[in-house]
Amino acid sequence: MSSSSSNVFYFLSFALLLQTAFAATKPLFHSCSGENFTVHGSYEANLNRVIAFLYHRTPYTGFGLGSTSLGVQSPDQAYGVALCRGDVSSSDCKTCVAEASSYIRQSCPERKRAMVWYDNCSLKYSDEKFFGQIDNGTKFSVLSTQNVSNPTYFNKKAEELLSQLANEASVTPKMYAAGELELQGSGKDVIYGMAQCTRDLSDGDCKTCLDGIIGYLPSCCDGKQGGRVVTGSCNIRYEIFPFLKA
Ligand SMILES: *[C@@H]1O[C@H](CO)[C@@H](O)[C@H](O)[C@H]1NC(C)=O
Ligand SMILES: *[C@@H]1O[C@H](CO)[C@@H](O)[C@H](O)[C@H]1NC(C)=O
Ligand SMILES: *[C@@H]1O[C@H](CO)[C@@H](O)[C@H](O)[C@H]1NC(C)=O
Ligand SMILES: *[C@@H]1O[C@H](CO)[C@@H](O)[C@H](O)[C@H]1NC(C)=O
Repeated sequence: MSSSSSNVFYFLSFALLLQTAFAATKPLFHSCSGENFTVHGSYEANLNRVIAFLYHRTPYTGFGLGSTSLGVQSPDQAYGVALCRGDVSSSDCKTCVAEASSYIRQSCPERKRAMVWYDNCSLKYSDEKFFGQIDNGTKFSVLSTQNVSNPTYFNKKAEELLSQLANEASVTPKMYAAGELELQGSGKDVIYGMAQCTRDLSDGDCKTCLDGIIGYLPSCCDGKQGGRVVTGSCNIRYEIFPFLKA
């Protein structure tokens, strides 16, 4: 199959996809930015191709990176990335990327740049070539409403776990790590955590990105039973219950 016919295939199946009604899962967060594009113009056509490509590509490995450019920066080129959480099955990944695509196009109509986050995946696109760069411009956190009883000790342990996972994730091909840490004394209290980067980052930048958001925990999630911080390039989460698929 030539690349142009596969583009047509992606585009057609994506057009069908957009017409399908999804059981709406609410995203955690979305943001729209950049200039407006011209409806039915070449940016929109390129964006549709990139999103369709991501929808088909991402479920294979949980990560997709696509652009319509062969390296030439031009205002009409579109660049996109989709990432599924490391434990998510490829069919759940596909569902999530489909929902993300249709939600973001409806929520950021005519905008050249946008990002959306779900539990199971994230999707981002731009007219700017952002591959391989840490994007911490948009940062978002979600925290549990419940407090822990021993915040100083708990915060330290959560940070310790996430720092270990950051080290692991940055040298793993999937750039994803999950684990748990037993809290002393109680015998059964455990912190569960995960850390993940988009795979266009270098090992060093993945680590930098994760350390940056771990450093943000005291501002967002001090003494909370659960917390997460997400950016365009990396994300972390911890909870006192197992939140990943075993
Ligand atoms: C983009 O379009 C929206 C709605 O059509 C409008 O409200 C907004 O001002 C436009 N933004 C720019 C930067 O032109
Ligand atoms: C998210 O993925 C997990 C693991 O594959 C799955 O159990 C869950 O149903 C998915 N959630 C949604 C809303 O699709
Ligand atoms: C983004 O990361 C850079 C480099 O690590 C850092 O200097 C900057 O403060 C970070 N910005 C935000 C908003 O976290
Ligand atoms: C948690 O702690 C904060 C600040 O110390 C307090 O305002 C809040 O009411 C507490 N929440 C619960 C559920 O106890």
